[in-house]
Amino acid sequence: MSSKLELGIIGCGSWVQLAHLPAIKDDSLTNIVACVDTSEPVGRAVQSRYGIPKFYTDYKEMIARENPDIVLVAIPHRFHASASKFALESGSAVVVEKPMATTLDEAIELAELSRAKGKLLVVGHELRLNRSIRTARQMVSRGALGKRYFSKALHLRRRGIPSGPTFLKRELAGGGAVFDICSHSIDAMLFMQDFPKPRSVYGKVRSVFASRMDMRSDYPSGAAGFKETSEVEDFGTGLIEFEDSSSMYLETSWASYISEDKHDFTLLGDAGGLHIEEDSVRFVSSAATQFFMSNILLAGHPWQNLTAEYKEYWRLIKKSLRDGEDVAPEPLCTAGQGVYGMSIMEAIYRSSDSGSIQEISLPKSISPEY
Ligand SMILES: NC(=O)c1ccc[n+]([C@@H]2O[C@H](COP(=O)([O-])OP(=O)(O)OC[C@H]3O[C@@H](n4cnc5c(N)ncnc54)[C@H](O)[C@@H]3O)[C@@H](O)[C@H]2O)c1
Repeated sequence: MSSKLELGIIGCGSWVQLAHLPAIKDDSLTNIVACVDTSEPVGRAVQSRYGIPKFYTDYKEMIARENPDIVLVAIPHRFHASASKFALESGSAVVVEKPMATTLDEAIELAELSRAKGKLLVVGHELRLNRSIRTARQMVSRGALGKRYFSKALHLRRRGIPSGPTFLKRELAGGGAVFDICSHSIDAMLFMQDFPKPRSVYGKVRSVFASRMDMRSDYPSGAAGFKETSEVEDFGTGLIEFEDSSSMYLETSWASYISEDKHDFTLLGDAGGLHIEEDSVRFVSSAATQFFMSNILLAGHPWQNLTAEYKEYWRLIKKSLRDGEDVAPEPLCTAGQGVYGMSIMEAIYRSSDSGSIQEISLPKSISPEY
């Protein structure tokens, strides 16, 4: 690796422009060597705005010619696995947006490949950088809950169906709200509970508001004119059982008749309960016959904005590459941890199709450690 990190960006859409590029653009230790997009106007606009030397419409050509240290894969979900695989096989490390793939087999293949090649693979779950999530992980690992038995994650939007084909065409997205937002909830829950191994899943997904334009958001940018019926689910729920016999309830919706949006986590044990809402963590416990509720005074500062959060995200990635690490550092999501999340998501879809509980069995090669 040269003194600067050579980065190739695959996909120049909304999230790269909103979250990644503002955090990387002025970084003296990162050299964005090229960007790629199948849409020439979108890619060229990003190239010129950020002064990126090269633009390609084909990521294979970009990787073959530029040989970057690392690539950022931020394209529709269906192409995450193939682009990441090509990059790893060519010797680049990979940061892949969530979900890391659209099938469990693809995710396992990526995790095994990253290990075989000794190349870092980070899955894009930046929610873990949130101080409430990190505090909860610390409290759980130090035994504050006692024996954990149940957890619950809600990510519910009232009017937030994304507008573009990236999220709504099945051939591009692979799935809907479960892949898009529940993927973050699942990952944060696994992270806070130190990756209990999933054993079985009962799930249901529904497309309720497929042609309701009034339920759509204005994300991603440039997709406001997209009026086609959604081909993926806007609602999902799942009940997961883990090998440690604890269970987890998930509920997600892009749109629903609720009074307000919710993004909450609950973790319960026989000695206490953690209740997380955005930047607030409350802990309920008891002494003698009384119940107490404490508001945790979170250390550090809430993120001022997305750019601060993504600067930290990329700082951690650069540090591990400079240190020659081939496993994502805490709190970033390792390939194996991404596979755990993918196993739950795929089982929710399978269960919904079949109407039955789905068992999960992961190969021995997969560990949340790497
Ligand atoms: N981590 C997060 O919180 C978060 C938030 C939003 C989006 N995302 C993820 O980022 C990714 C991109 O989403 P977005 O919101 O930017 O969507 P978008 O539609 O704005 O951008 C996708 C871009 O990919 C391009 N593209 C499509 N196929 C391509 C290919 N084969 N090669 C190169 N470019 C291709 C499209 O032309 C488009 O410009 C998705 O995986 C999404 O889930 C993550």
